[in-house]
Amino acid sequence: MKYYFAPMEGITLYPLRNIHNSMFGDSIDRYYTPFITATHNFHFKKREKRDALFENSPAFENDKGRICAQIMAGRPDTFLWAAVEMKKLGYEEVNLNLGCPAPTVVNRHKGAGLLLDTDYLDGMLKEIFDKLPPFSEGGIDVSLKTRLGFYDEDEAEKLMAIYAGYPIKELIIHSRVREDYYKGSPRIDAFCRAVQVYRENGGKAPVCYNGNVFRADDKELMGRIEGICDAVMLGRGIMENPALARELKGGEPLNDAELKEYLEKLYYGFAEYIPEDRNVIFKMLEHWAFLAARYPDREKELKAIRKSRSKGEYFAAVNNFFSK
Ligand SMILES: Cc1cc2nc3c(=O)[nH]c(=O)nc-3n(C[C@H](O)[C@H](O)[C@H](O)COP(=O)(O)O)c2cc1C
Repeated sequence: MKYYFAPMEGITLYPLRNIHNSMFGDSIDRYYTPFITATHNFHFKKREKRDALFENSPAFENDKGRICAQIMAGRPDTFLWAAVEMKKLGYEEVNLNLGCPAPTVVNRHKGAGLLLDTDYLDGMLKEIFDKLPPFSEGGIDVSLKTRLGFYDEDEAEKLMAIYAGYPIKELIIHSRVREDYYKGSPRIDAFCRAVQVYRENGGKAPVCYNGNVFRADDKELMGRIEGICDAVMLGRGIMENPALARELKGGEPLNDAELKEYLEKLYYGFAEYIPEDRNVIFKMLEHWAFLAARYPDREKELKAIRKSRSKGEYFAAVNNFFSK
């Protein structure tokens, strides 16, 4: 089984990807950039472009296939433009976001909003694959990250039949519908059915499962998806436990010393990226919001970390957390 580090907007930025890769990268088969918006005026936001530059991720420069750029686009022409720009930067694969549930995205006919109009989506994919050759022929590979539907998991039937008609590099399925956002249990039965429908329609691409993989010992979930998919994408689970993929591969569990080292490196990585200690601390607190789920018995120490507003206060609180 392969393991991917999921794209997470504002979170899995290059400092995090680089540092995670330097400590836990052996267990990760592919990283994804958070979505890069292909705007209607064929322009990237400066910070999104910066995040995608290989010069900011030197460890990936000789292994460009280990990172995939995700694109948010609502039109074939903007997607094609963005894909070609990513090709110029050195990417071998781009991923189309068909899952973002945010109203601002959906209302603009992007992300999961594209799942609402299957004729339009079909036409968009047709134009993309008609015009863009794969990486092996001098172009760039295209993978999809989708949900099972917008309102209802039965929508997957139609969606999978559409996806099966195109030479996608990989099909990543977040096992929820848009209306679920990130809540509740993933729809495993519907995921299994969707993979079956994709195969029955002649879909040949590897399939990746995504949704609520939090623990390496979750035998029930892993047991159900093993055998029908080739990869698992980890999001909140790997934010909570950066060694999750290693554990899933049968390796050592995370220990406090390496988590502490990881968080320290992240702090200094983000300090080079973001001006002002206060903002670096806010970035780290976003991270701690994921980690907190792992430590229900250290609420007092976590509270002190959340209250810190200077670098000194932050590191004192973190040291105290790890001395428990
Ligand atoms: C804060 C946050 C930001 C996210 N940003 C993106 C994104 O940029 N692109 C994307 O495809 N999915 C994004 N996702 C969804 C995740 O990639 C993943 O599909 C989701 O968290 C479910 O997987 P998990 O249960 O392993 O966390 C985001 C999720 C969260 C919580």
